[in-house]
Amino acid sequence: MTQENSPQKFSRRDVLKLIGVSAVAITAGAVLDTTRPWQNYSSETAWLARPLDLQAQGEDMLQEILRYATLAPSGHNTQPWKFAASSGHIRISPDLERALPVVDPDHRELWISLGCALENLLLAARACGYAPQVTYPDTAAWIDVALQPGNPSQDELFAAIPQRQNTRCEYDGQALTASEWTQLRALPLEQGIRLHYFDQTGLSALADLVTQGNLSQYADTAFLRELVFWLRFNKKEALLAQDGLFSRCSGNPEVPHWLGKLFVMSTQPGQQAAADAQKLLSSSGAVILTSSDDSPSAWVRTGQVYERLALRLTSLNLRSSFLNQPIEVAQVRGQVQKSLEGTAMPQLLLRFGHAAPMPRSLRRPVAAVVQG
Ligand SMILES: Cc1cc2nc3c(=O)[nH]c(=O)nc-3n(C[C@H](O)[C@H](O)[C@H](O)COP(=O)(O)O)c2cc1C
Repeated sequence: MTQENSPQKFSRRDVLKLIGVSAVAITAGAVLDTTRPWQNYSSETAWLARPLDLQAQGEDMLQEILRYATLAPSGHNTQPWKFAASSGHIRISPDLERALPVVDPDHRELWISLGCALENLLLAARACGYAPQVTYPDTAAWIDVALQPGNPSQDELFAAIPQRQNTRCEYDGQALTASEWTQLRALPLEQGIRLHYFDQTGLSALADLVTQGNLSQYADTAFLRELVFWLRFNKKEALLAQDGLFSRCSGNPEVPHWLGKLFVMSTQPGQQAAADAQKLLSSSGAVILTSSDDSPSAWVRTGQVYERLALRLTSLNLRSSFLNQPIEVAQVRGQVQKSLEGTAMPQLLLRFGHAAPMPRSLRRPVAAVVQG
């Protein structure tokens, strides 16, 4: 282990300094934003996803680890996480002000999102020379990561963190090679979490379930209102909020807010269902993640395994995207469970295959997610 990346414990002073420095950066950024042309979207996303600085020390190293944690996916890109660091521990807590009460009333996907951030944080901490130890939210309402000194280690999952994205376009239909399937099936899992893979022959049965989920969700005005709240219809909205779903990331054009809202609120459920079924059928395969129970710890572990899988797919130059509708709608979730012929709880459904990357999504700066 080199002196440059030897692990240090983070003091409360480090964290306060980090918040102070970043608050100045945010204020300066806000001033710049009013004068900056909005076309800077791609330079913002490139800057957010720059490679981790392994030479960073003290609070700069902490900032880098947390930046990598925030590159994780989250439902509607709400980024529902808060981080607090002291005495060699990082605590990840849910930010319930960023919950999605309609699509995720039990905070199931919120905890899964925290699990995704946890997995990135662990990979980044190991690269910085820690041997992190996780305490799951069994008795407390947060995840605790103890940062013990260890040997720096990086793998292809760590390297894939800045490249991973949800790619929502149609894929090219090309089948996976046997070697790609072998590498996916070799992915390390977490306690109670299973992956149920489908090759192209299994996709039409899944498409029927996705259609049922879409027909239910897109006929629900409360679902559409919540979705619109998190949609960013143009670069200006996306850059101001630094969260949510920017239209270009889903392959849609930029439009004024009023027009985008009108368009989404009048979406025909059947049209949405047909488009998503087509996307699923264009894929090389799909996978349903299940857990042995429904609890915050099981959801966090699901998020970890999902993130690992998404990073493995990225490292194989494969794209992936969620189609969680059949799991988000309670009645359809029961059917998904039956189709797997088991008692495990379905948590996530994603498809994967070959396609060109799409524009990246934004993240809020680390200072906005660190608590004092
Ligand atoms: C628990 C969870 C559920 C999600 N559900 C969906 C979904 O049903 N459909 C979808 O297109 N994206 C879904 N997403 C992806 C997010 O919208 C995406 O992660 C976010 O917009 C950030 O974009 P990125 O993953 O490309 O960085 C989900 C993400 C998570 C973590």
